[in-house]
Amino acid sequence: MSLKTDYLKILKNNQRDSGGRFFTLPSSSYYPHQWFWDSCFHSIIYASFGQFQKAEDELKSLLAKQWENGMIPHLIYLDDTRFDEDWGTNNMTSSITQPPMIAYAAEKICKRNKKFVKDIFEQLNKYYDWLYDARSENYLLSIIHPWESGLDDFVSWDSVLSLENPDKKTLADKKRYLLAEYVKTGHDSRKFMKRNLFNVKCLVFNSIYILNLRSMVALAKVLGKNSEQKYQDRLDKTNIAYKRFFDKKTKVYTTFDSNGFVKNNNNFSVFFPLVAGALTKEEAKGLVTKMKTHDFWTKYPIPTVAKTDKSFEADRYWRGTVWININWFLCKALRRYGFFEVADEIKKKSLELVKTGFYEYFNPITGKGYGPDDFSWSGLVFDM
Ligand code: GLC
Repeated sequence: MSLKTDYLKILKNNQRDSGGRFFTLPSSSYYPHQWFWDSCFHSIIYASFGQFQKAEDELKSLLAKQWENGMIPHLIYLDDTRFDEDWGTNNMTSSITQPPMIAYAAEKICKRNKKFVKDIFEQLNKYYDWLYDARSENYLLSIIHPWESGLDDFVSWDSVLSLENPDKKTLADKKRYLLAEYVKTGHDSRKFMKRNLFNVKCLVFNSIYILNLRSMVALAKVLGKNSEQKYQDRLDKTNIAYKRFFDKKTKVYTTFDSNGFVKNNNNFSVFFPLVAGALTKEEAKGLVTKMKTHDFWTKYPIPTVAKTDKSFEADRYWRGTVWININWFLCKALRRYGFFEVADEIKKKSLELVKTGFYEYFNPITGKGYGPDDFSWSGLVFDM
């Protein structure tokens, strides 16, 4: 049987039809609900397979749970069997968001079904306006919780949270504390941001935002919406503001908060200016050279933390392991910049990884998979 046939079986098994909403679980063995950026990736995967109805349904089911204020929650519960956190909600959703990939996913569909995107455009507009109104400070967006980054236990949060090499439990306790404090503000982002408990300009989140602002400009244009100018303006200003991520001392783009740049920037995020399209070809070349050093060019690239960094752990969640969605972002960006061979190599190595199972994340040195082996977004490997 082919790899793709194996994967399609997994995908099918992860599909749910619940209360008129169709969507795909990240993994039926481990993640029994719907997650925001996962669903955007699933939609992209369906579209790349030509399964456009499913690609549309996946986005529709997210938008069905959009909040009145425009926010799209990062987690939508399938049922009330496992409310493991206190989100301060009673609508079966969480109260925080995730990297805003929905415009990019919609743009993929638009090429095939303009009418569908026309129908959802106002909801997309409402979401990106919410992000801008609730979270932007001088055109860069703040995330207010590690979970919003989608990179849950990422090393960059250690210094923000005043922790040193925290174990899983310490991180979990901190995350719970932050959530409780946010809930106390009545989900008022601005109020919470003022407290500086976790008000982070995340390089990865903002790079993905720029990618999606481009999609909003393109969609508004194709649909003849007068918001095209608004998004073009936001995109231009965010591109200028993006330079604030550049850390002159370490000479790489780096996540920051009110205390300055985060301590650990020796990780995959330094490559995300490629995703934002923020670099000249020459600067991009410099980053590709860095990518190909033994720090990042492991047997199975790209590790989430540089191999020689003291916080590198080859088997730990977001602290050294390889993730297929990150490789997908980088592959696409490398192709846009014309680095086809490097992208092809990442694709080849990623395919080798999933041959052992569609695991959630992988060891960059041995290739061993971890987490559930029916992880839906690992199918992004077919769209690299
Ligand atoms: C983990 C990941 C997050 C993802 C979720 C569901 O929490 O860190 O990015 O959305 O699982 O797959």
